[in-house]
Amino acid sequence: MATLAAVLATTHHPFYYKATTAPPNERIPQADEWQRKVEAYRETLTRANPDILVMVGSDHFHQFFLDNYPTFLIGKQPRYDATFYNEEREFGIPKYELEGDEDLSGFLLQGLMDRGFDFSVSNELKIDHSIICPIITTRPAADLPIVPIYTNFFAPPLPSPRRFWDLGRAIRQVIDEYPSEKRIAAIGSGHLSLELGGPRQFGETGPDPVFDRKAIEWLATGDIDAILANVTHESMAAAGNATHGFMALILMLGIAGPQQAATYVDSLDLYHTMEAYLTWYPDEGAK
Ligand SMILES: [Fe+2]
Repeated sequence: MATLAAVLATTHHPFYYKATTAPPNERIPQADEWQRKVEAYRETLTRANPDILVMVGSDHFHQFFLDNYPTFLIGKQPRYDATFYNEEREFGIPKYELEGDEDLSGFLLQGLMDRGFDFSVSNELKIDHSIICPIITTRPAADLPIVPIYTNFFAPPLPSPRRFWDLGRAIRQVIDEYPSEKRIAAIGSGHLSLELGGPRQFGETGPDPVFDRKAIEWLATGDIDAILANVTHESMAAAGNATHGFMALILMLGIAGPQQAATYVDSLDLYHTMEAYLTWYPDEGAK
């Protein structure tokens, strides 16, 4: 059976590439520390020696819109183009072409349907910064095949936090049953407290630093009971209008498992978000 070699949960700040490739006189003050933290985080994936990356993200209204936004979607293609025009223009993110793993996509699609998750499937998915930013930070060579999974935390009505947790648990079961000698890493990105376009955008910190600290603590200790007791659509909305992206991180905790303390936990307070970097090594713990 396949080995789940690592589970990574992180934010996907779109300005990382620009901030760390700018000439010295244009670098933002936090760029050096940001780069150091990201490179240390990258090492947590490198040491897992993965063969395939299951990438969990969400389409930021690039390909799916309010009229037809899939709740859960999996890509099943030999290759994926990445980076939309506005991401190139505004964030300076390069275009990428990533290899896909159609066999694992198909196995996950069937296995998740068997467990009550009726996924949409796409053969013409283009991936955005929710997936390419974690590739840039954790695997900049972009040399491994991916299986992209998109979840809806943008277009109401949204699935519940518990549904994201349950999906993470189901993904874990299917990966554990995948008949392959491959080493799989699951990398998911979402948000902590985040305000997009609202009155609290671009503050000195994220819109709700108290939530951010609690959220990282819950993830780091695998405290799903505290998450499900405290995190609702309403509480996330109170923390910032795009905070629902935290549910992608709940999903990643679901893949890691309950009461699984993360092996690696780091964060960085940027000028309008807190960045989070967590890694679990499931094959070193209980399933
Ligand atoms: Fe995002």
